[in-house]
Amino acid sequence: MLDFIEKYQSEIDAYVIANSEELENFRLKFLSKKGVISTLFQQFKEISPEKKKETGLRLNRLKESANHKYENQKGILSSSENFIARDLTLPAEPIPLGARHPVSLIRKEIVTAFSKIGFTVAEGPEIEDDWHVFTGLNFPVEHPARDMQDTFFIEKNPDIVLRTHTSSVQVRVMETLSPPIRKIFPGRVFRNEAISARAHCIFHQIEGLYIDRNVSFADLKQTLMFFAREMFGEKTQIRLRPSFFPFTEPSAEMDVSCTICGGSGCNVCKYTGYLEILGCGMVDPNVLEASSIDSKEYTGFAFGMGLERIAMLKYQVNDLRLYFENDIRFLKQFTSAY
Ligand code: DAH
Repeated sequence: MLDFIEKYQSEIDAYVIANSEELENFRLKFLSKKGVISTLFQQFKEISPEKKKETGLRLNRLKESANHKYENQKGILSSSENFIARDLTLPAEPIPLGARHPVSLIRKEIVTAFSKIGFTVAEGPEIEDDWHVFTGLNFPVEHPARDMQDTFFIEKNPDIVLRTHTSSVQVRVMETLSPPIRKIFPGRVFRNEAISARAHCIFHQIEGLYIDRNVSFADLKQTLMFFAREMFGEKTQIRLRPSFFPFTEPSAEMDVSCTICGGSGCNVCKYTGYLEILGCGMVDPNVLEASSIDSKEYTGFAFGMGLERIAMLKYQVNDLRLYFENDIRFLKQFTSAY
Protein backbone atom coordinates (compact mmCIF):
# COMPACT_ATOMS: atom_id res chain seq x y z
CA MET A 1 0.00 0.00 0.00
CA LEU A 2 2.86 2.36 0.75
CA ASP A 3 3.95 2.00 -2.87
CA PHE A 4 0.54 3.14 -4.06
CA ILE A 5 0.62 6.09 -1.76
CA GLU A 6 3.98 7.08 -3.09
CA LYS A 7 2.87 6.68 -6.69
CA TYR A 8 -0.21 8.85 -6.17
CA GLN A 9 1.82 11.40 -4.27
CA SER A 10 4.10 11.91 -7.25
CA GLU A 11 1.08 11.96 -9.53
CA ILE A 12 -0.54 14.69 -7.45
CA ASP A 13 2.66 16.71 -7.36
CA ALA A 14 3.04 16.52 -11.12
CA TYR A 15 -0.63 17.02 -11.99
CA VAL A 16 -1.12 20.07 -14.23
CA ILE A 17 -4.31 22.01 -13.69
CA ALA A 18 -4.78 24.76 -16.27
CA ASN A 19 -8.52 25.23 -16.33
CA SER A 20 -11.68 24.46 -14.43
CA GLU A 21 -12.27 21.26 -16.34
CA GLU A 22 -8.88 19.88 -15.29
CA LEU A 23 -9.56 21.01 -11.77
CA GLU A 24 -12.77 19.00 -11.73
CA ASN A 25 -10.99 15.95 -13.15
CA PHE A 26 -8.43 16.24 -10.39
CA ARG A 27 -11.18 16.40 -7.76
CA LEU A 28 -12.95 13.36 -9.23
CA LYS A 29 -9.80 11.31 -9.42
CA PHE A 30 -8.39 12.04 -5.96
CA LEU A 31 -10.95 13.63 -3.70
CA SER A 32 -14.42 12.37 -4.63
CA LYS A 33 -16.17 9.59 -2.73
CA LYS A 34 -15.11 7.02 -5.27
CA GLY A 35 -11.74 8.62 -5.84
CA VAL A 36 -8.29 7.24 -5.18
CA ILE A 37 -7.87 8.55 -1.65
CA SER A 38 -11.22 7.41 -0.43
CA THR A 39 -10.53 3.92 -1.86
CA LEU A 40 -7.17 3.83 -0.10
CA PHE A 41 -8.89 4.71 3.17
CA GLN A 42 -11.23 1.76 2.60
CA GLN A 43 -8.28 -0.54 2.08
CA PHE A 44 -6.53 0.97 5.09
CA LYS A 45 -9.09 -0.71 7.37
CA GLU A 46 -7.82 -4.11 6.28
CA ILE A 47 -4.08 -3.76 6.75
CA SER A 48 -2.25 -5.34 9.63
CA PRO A 49 -2.07 -3.37 12.88
CA GLU A 50 1.71 -3.02 12.94
CA LYS A 51 1.64 -1.24 9.56
CA LYS A 52 -1.25 1.01 10.48
CA LYS A 53 0.71 3.77 12.14
CA GLU A 54 3.05 4.59 9.31
CA THR A 55 0.50 3.93 6.54
CA GLY A 56 -2.07 6.10 8.31
CA LEU A 57 0.41 8.92 8.59
CA ARG A 58 1.39 8.74 4.93
CA LEU A 59 -2.20 8.36 3.81
CA ASN A 60 -3.25 11.48 5.74
CA ARG A 61 -0.39 13.39 4.22
CA LEU A 62 -1.48 12.31 0.75
CA LYS A 63 -5.00 13.49 1.42
CA GLU A 64 -3.80 16.79 2.77
CA SER A 65 -1.58 17.45 -0.18
CA ALA A 66 -4.41 16.64 -2.63
CA ASN A 67 -6.76 18.97 -0.75
CA HIS A 68 -4.16 21.66 -0.62
CA LYS A 69 -3.42 21.45 -4.31
CA TYR A 70 -7.11 21.47 -5.14
CA GLU A 71 -7.92 24.59 -3.06
CA ASN A 72 -4.82 26.36 -4.23
CA GLN A 73 -5.49 25.82 -7.92
CA LYS A 74 -9.14 26.70 -7.48
CA GLY A 75 -8.15 30.08 -6.02
CA ILE A 76 -5.71 30.78 -8.81
CA LEU A 77 -8.21 29.84 -11.50
CA SER A 78 -11.08 31.89 -10.14
CA SER A 79 -9.02 35.05 -9.89
CA SER A 80 -7.55 34.61 -13.36
CA GLU A 81 -10.98 33.84 -14.82
CA ASN A 82 -12.30 37.04 -13.25
CA PHE A 83 -9.48 38.88 -14.80
CA ILE A 84 -10.23 37.50 -18.25
CA ALA A 85 -13.95 38.31 -17.81
CA ARG A 86 -13.04 41.94 -17.21
CA ASP A 87 -12.30 42.95 -20.78
CA LEU A 88 -10.48 46.23 -20.40
CA THR A 89 -11.09 47.21 -24.01
CA LEU A 90 -14.88 47.30 -23.51
CA PRO A 91 -16.48 50.77 -23.34
CA ALA A 92 -16.92 51.96 -19.75
CA GLU A 93 -20.26 51.67 -18.00
CA PRO A 94 -22.14 54.94 -18.49
CA ILE A 95 -22.27 57.16 -15.41
CA PRO A 96 -25.62 58.94 -15.33
CA LEU A 97 -25.09 62.70 -15.20
CA GLY A 98 -27.26 64.86 -13.00
CA ALA A 99 -28.71 68.15 -14.15
CA ARG A 100 -28.60 71.55 -12.55
CA HIS A 101 -31.99 72.74 -11.37
CA PRO A 102 -33.45 75.37 -13.73
CA VAL A 103 -33.54 77.91 -10.89
CA SER A 104 -29.82 77.29 -10.26
CA LEU A 105 -29.14 77.78 -13.96
CA ILE A 106 -30.93 81.12 -13.96
CA ARG A 107 -29.21 82.24 -10.75
CA LYS A 108 -25.84 81.38 -12.25
CA GLU A 109 -26.63 83.32 -15.43
CA ILE A 110 -27.75 86.39 -13.49
CA VAL A 111 -24.76 86.28 -11.15
CA THR A 112 -22.43 85.95 -14.16
CA ALA A 113 -24.08 88.89 -15.93
CA PHE A 114 -23.73 91.21 -12.92
CA SER A 115 -20.25 90.01 -12.06
CA LYS A 116 -19.11 91.40 -15.44
CA ILE A 117 -19.87 94.89 -14.16
CA GLY A 118 -18.35 94.43 -10.73
CA PHE A 119 -21.19 93.10 -8.58
CA THR A 120 -20.23 90.45 -6.04
CA VAL A 121 -22.49 88.04 -4.17
CA ALA A 122 -23.54 88.29 -0.53
CA GLU A 123 -26.06 86.25 1.42
CA GLY A 124 -28.19 86.70 4.50
CA PRO A 125 -30.33 84.52 6.77
CA GLU A 126 -33.75 83.14 5.79
CA ILE A 127 -35.02 83.58 9.33
CA GLU A 128 -34.99 87.29 10.00
CA ASP A 129 -36.13 89.89 12.47
CA ASP A 130 -38.66 92.59 11.74
CA TRP A 131 -35.96 95.25 11.44
CA HIS A 132 -34.16 93.70 8.45
CA VAL A 133 -37.28 92.63 6.57
CA PHE A 134 -39.52 95.64 7.21
CA THR A 135 -38.59 98.48 9.56
CA GLY A 136 -35.04 99.04 8.29
CA LEU A 137 -36.53 99.18 4.78
CA ASN A 138 -38.90 101.99 5.61
CA PHE A 139 -42.09 99.89 5.82
CA PRO A 140 -44.63 101.81 7.88
CA VAL A 141 -45.92 99.94 10.94
CA GLU A 142 -49.33 99.38 9.39
CA HIS A 143 -48.00 98.31 5.96
CA PRO A 144 -50.02 95.38 4.54
CA ALA A 145 -46.91 93.36 3.67
CA ARG A 146 -46.40 92.79 7.39
CA ASP A 147 -49.80 91.22 7.52
CA MET A 148 -50.26 87.62 8.67
CA GLN A 149 -51.60 86.81 5.21
CA ASP A 150 -48.24 87.46 3.62
CA THR A 151 -45.64 86.75 6.22
CA PHE A 152 -44.79 83.52 8.03
CA PHE A 153 -44.22 84.50 11.64
CA ILE A 154 -41.94 82.35 13.77
CA GLU A 155 -42.25 84.52 16.87
CA LYS A 156 -44.34 87.55 17.73
CA ASN A 157 -43.18 90.57 19.76
CA PRO A 158 -40.42 90.97 18.92
CA ASP A 159 -41.24 89.58 15.48
CA ILE A 160 -39.10 86.86 13.96
CA VAL A 161 -40.20 85.94 10.45
CA LEU A 162 -39.24 83.98 7.36
CA ARG A 163 -37.95 86.71 5.06
CA THR A 164 -40.52 87.71 2.44
CA HIS A 165 -37.90 89.20 0.14
CA THR A 166 -34.12 89.31 -0.26
CA SER A 167 -34.23 93.09 0.27
CA SER A 168 -33.49 92.19 3.89
CA VAL A 169 -29.90 91.45 2.87
CA GLN A 170 -29.56 95.09 1.73
CA VAL A 171 -29.96 96.17 5.33
CA ARG A 172 -27.48 93.59 6.62
CA VAL A 173 -24.91 94.66 4.04
CA MET A 174 -25.40 98.38 4.68
CA GLU A 175 -24.91 97.75 8.40
CA THR A 176 -21.61 96.00 7.91
CA LEU A 177 -20.01 97.59 4.84
CA SER A 178 -19.43 101.21 4.03
CA PRO A 179 -19.89 102.60 0.50
CA PRO A 180 -19.03 102.02 -2.26
CA ILE A 181 -21.26 98.93 -2.16
CA ARG A 182 -21.93 96.94 -5.30
CA LYS A 183 -23.56 93.64 -4.43
CA ILE A 184 -26.20 91.12 -5.44
CA PHE A 185 -28.04 88.84 -3.03
CA PRO A 186 -29.54 85.60 -4.30
CA GLY A 187 -31.73 83.60 -1.94
CA ARG A 188 -34.93 81.84 -0.96
CA VAL A 189 -37.93 83.80 0.23
CA PHE A 190 -41.21 82.78 1.82
CA ARG A 191 -44.76 84.06 1.60
CA ASN A 192 -47.94 82.74 3.07
CA GLU A 193 -49.71 82.04 -0.20
CA ALA A 194 -51.83 79.14 -1.37
CA ILE A 195 -49.85 76.99 -3.79
CA SER A 196 -51.05 77.20 -7.39
CA ALA A 197 -49.60 77.35 -10.90
CA ARG A 198 -48.98 81.09 -10.42
CA ALA A 199 -48.03 81.36 -6.73
CA HIS A 200 -45.95 79.40 -4.24
CA CYS A 201 -45.06 79.81 -0.60
CA ILE A 202 -41.34 79.42 -1.37
CA PHE A 203 -39.52 81.04 -4.25
CA HIS A 204 -36.19 82.65 -5.11
CA GLN A 205 -35.12 86.22 -5.66
CA ILE A 206 -32.00 88.14 -6.56
CA GLU A 207 -31.62 91.56 -5.08
CA GLY A 208 -29.08 94.12 -6.19
CA LEU A 209 -27.68 97.14 -4.37
CA TYR A 210 -25.32 99.86 -5.54
CA ILE A 211 -24.36 102.73 -3.25
CA ASP A 212 -21.70 105.35 -3.92
CA ARG A 213 -21.32 109.08 -4.39
CA ASN A 214 -23.34 110.51 -7.30
CA VAL A 215 -25.24 107.36 -8.23
CA SER A 216 -28.16 108.42 -10.42
CA PHE A 217 -31.25 106.93 -11.98
CA ALA A 218 -29.35 106.89 -15.29
CA ASP A 219 -26.85 104.48 -13.71
CA LEU A 220 -29.72 102.25 -12.63
CA LYS A 221 -31.16 102.29 -16.13
CA GLN A 222 -27.85 101.50 -17.83
CA THR A 223 -27.10 98.70 -15.37
CA LEU A 224 -30.47 97.08 -15.93
CA MET A 225 -30.20 97.52 -19.69
CA PHE A 226 -26.85 95.76 -19.65
CA PHE A 227 -28.32 92.96 -17.57
CA ALA A 228 -31.41 92.54 -19.79
CA ARG A 229 -29.28 92.27 -22.91
CA GLU A 230 -26.86 89.79 -21.30
CA MET A 231 -29.80 87.70 -20.18
CA PHE A 232 -32.24 87.89 -23.06
CA GLY A 233 -30.10 88.94 -26.03
CA GLU A 234 -28.61 92.00 -27.72
CA LYS A 235 -31.88 93.19 -29.24
CA THR A 236 -33.78 93.31 -25.95
CA GLN A 237 -35.54 96.58 -25.16
CA ILE A 238 -36.39 97.70 -21.63
CA ARG A 239 -39.19 99.86 -20.33
CA LEU A 240 -39.43 101.45 -16.89
CA ARG A 241 -42.86 102.15 -15.43
CA PRO A 242 -43.37 104.26 -12.27
CA SER A 243 -44.28 102.14 -9.26
CA PHE A 244 -44.12 102.16 -5.50
CA PHE A 245 -41.94 100.37 -2.95
CA PRO A 246 -41.39 101.68 0.58
CA PHE A 247 -37.59 101.33 0.31
CA THR A 248 -37.05 103.17 -3.00
CA GLU A 249 -37.93 106.66 -4.17
CA PRO A 250 -38.58 107.02 -7.03
CA SER A 251 -39.55 103.40 -7.72
CA ALA A 252 -40.13 101.62 -10.99
CA GLU A 253 -40.98 98.30 -12.50
CA MET A 254 -38.96 97.10 -15.44
CA ASP A 255 -40.33 95.27 -18.46
CA VAL A 256 -38.29 93.62 -21.18
CA SER A 257 -39.42 93.22 -24.77
CA CYS A 258 -41.18 89.88 -25.04
CA THR A 259 -38.67 87.03 -25.26
CA ILE A 260 -41.06 85.09 -27.49
CA CYS A 261 -42.37 87.56 -30.07
CA GLY A 262 -39.65 90.20 -29.69
CA GLY A 263 -42.25 92.90 -29.06
CA SER A 264 -44.74 92.36 -31.84
CA GLY A 265 -47.32 90.81 -29.52
CA CYS A 266 -48.20 87.21 -28.63
CA ASN A 267 -50.17 85.36 -25.99
CA VAL A 268 -47.14 85.10 -23.64
CA CYS A 269 -46.92 88.92 -23.38
CA LYS A 270 -50.71 89.19 -23.73
CA TYR A 271 -50.19 91.23 -26.91
CA THR A 272 -48.44 94.05 -25.02
CA GLY A 273 -44.99 93.24 -26.46
CA TYR A 274 -43.45 93.48 -22.96
CA LEU A 275 -42.94 91.26 -19.91
CA GLU A 276 -42.49 92.54 -16.38
CA ILE A 277 -39.37 91.14 -14.74
CA LEU A 278 -38.29 93.26 -11.80
CA GLY A 279 -38.83 96.09 -9.34
CA CYS A 280 -36.23 98.81 -8.79
CA GLY A 281 -35.60 102.36 -7.72
CA MET A 282 -33.30 104.81 -5.98
CA VAL A 283 -32.66 103.76 -2.39
CA ASP A 284 -34.90 105.90 -0.15
CA PRO A 285 -32.79 108.27 2.03
CA ASN A 286 -34.66 106.89 5.07
CA VAL A 287 -33.26 103.44 4.30
CA LEU A 288 -29.70 104.77 4.06
CA GLU A 289 -30.05 106.72 7.29
CA ALA A 290 -31.58 103.71 9.11
CA SER A 291 -28.32 101.86 8.41
CA SER A 292 -26.19 104.89 9.34
CA ILE A 293 -25.19 105.83 5.79
CA ASP A 294 -25.13 109.58 5.22
CA SER A 295 -27.83 110.22 2.62
CA LYS A 296 -26.38 113.66 1.80
CA GLU A 297 -23.10 112.12 0.78
CA TYR A 298 -24.29 108.90 -0.79
CA THR A 299 -27.06 107.80 -3.12
CA GLY A 300 -27.80 104.38 -4.52
CA PHE A 301 -30.11 102.16 -6.45
CA ALA A 302 -31.63 98.78 -5.74
CA PHE A 303 -33.52 96.19 -7.69
CA GLY A 304 -35.11 92.82 -7.03
CA MET A 305 -36.41 90.03 -9.23
CA GLY A 306 -37.98 86.60 -8.92
CA LEU A 307 -35.89 83.76 -10.33
CA GLU A 308 -38.80 81.43 -11.06
CA ARG A 309 -40.46 84.20 -13.02
CA ILE A 310 -37.39 84.57 -15.23
CA ALA A 311 -37.00 80.79 -15.52
CA MET A 312 -40.65 80.56 -16.62
CA LEU A 313 -40.05 83.12 -19.34
CA LYS A 314 -36.79 81.61 -20.43
CA TYR A 315 -37.89 77.97 -20.46
CA GLN A 316 -41.56 78.52 -21.30
CA VAL A 317 -42.71 76.54 -18.27
CA ASN A 318 -45.99 77.94 -17.11
CA ASP A 319 -46.62 76.05 -13.88
CA LEU A 320 -44.61 77.32 -10.91
CA ARG A 321 -45.17 74.11 -8.95
CA LEU A 322 -42.86 72.19 -11.31
CA TYR A 323 -39.89 74.06 -9.86
CA PHE A 324 -40.50 72.62 -6.41
CA GLU A 325 -41.77 69.11 -7.00
CA ASN A 326 -38.42 67.75 -8.19
CA ASP A 327 -40.07 65.45 -10.68
CA ILE A 328 -37.14 63.75 -12.34
CA ARG A 329 -38.88 63.87 -15.75
CA PHE A 330 -38.92 67.66 -15.53
CA LEU A 331 -35.39 68.07 -14.14
CA LYS A 332 -33.87 65.68 -16.68
CA GLN A 333 -34.74 68.09 -19.47
CA PHE A 334 -32.07 70.48 -18.21
CA THR A 335 -29.25 67.92 -18.39
CA SER A 336 -27.50 69.55 -21.34
CA ALA A 337 -27.57 73.05 -19.82
CA TYR A 338 -24.71 73.92 -17.52
N1 DAH B 1 -38.52 93.36 -2.57
C1 DAH B 1 -39.42 93.50 -3.71
C2 DAH B 1 -40.38 92.32 -3.76
O1 DAH B 1 -40.14 91.33 -3.15
C3 DAH B 1 -38.66 93.59 -5.00
C4 DAH B 1 -37.91 94.88 -5.10
C5 DAH B 1 -38.48 95.97 -5.66
C6 DAH B 1 -36.62 94.96 -4.67
C7 DAH B 1 -37.83 97.16 -5.77
C8 DAH B 1 -35.91 96.16 -4.77
C9 DAH B 1 -36.53 97.26 -5.33
O2 DAH B 1 -34.67 96.30 -4.35
O3 DAH B 1 -35.85 98.42 -5.46
O4 DAH B 1 -41.36 92.39 -4.45
